Amino acid sequence: MDRRQFLSWMSVGAIATSLPIALAACNSNSETTTEAETPESPTAEAEIAESPAEMASTDLAEDGFVNVGTTAQLDSEGFILDKDAATPFIAIRNPDTQEIIALNPTCTHNGCIVDYDGADQEFACPCHGAKYDATGAVTNGPAEDPLSVLESREEGDAVFVKIS
Ligand code: FES
Repeated sequence: MDRRQFLSWMSVGAIATSLPIALAACNSNSETTTEAETPESPTAEAEIAESPAEMASTDLAEDGFVNVGTTAQLDSEGFILDKDAATPFIAIRNPDTQEIIALNPTCTHNGCIVDYDGADQEFACPCHGAKYDATGAVTNGPAEDPLSVLESREEGDAVFVKIS
């Protein structure tokens, strides 16, 4: 073995010896970075867990009305619904007057959230079949009481519902 071959073998040995150390160093660095970047802090979780209802509450006016969306959103989707709000609500347009109506979509029979059928302009409960017209009046049992009406108003292109 000449000098050149000896040095070549030595450099291969040095790389082979130091490779596991280098990998371990990279691995411990990545663990540290991963722990620092994971959303385990309460602030990160709070931001992820924030629901539309919680975001809407930041728009709470002193009179208890909440900006729940825009008239464009209401008109394109047919309704604005938040069943997870402190007081669940659904806003629609009264098919007769085109004014905004807001109702609590909680079925008065046993508490299921009703679905709005814009084509038939009625609310239908998926649990036991109760139906309500667009103003919340019962049209089919077993529910006996109407859906609760919530105060609502339209200001410019914004829809407000009194949730509290
Ligand atoms: Fe709606 Fe029973 S909960 S009909």
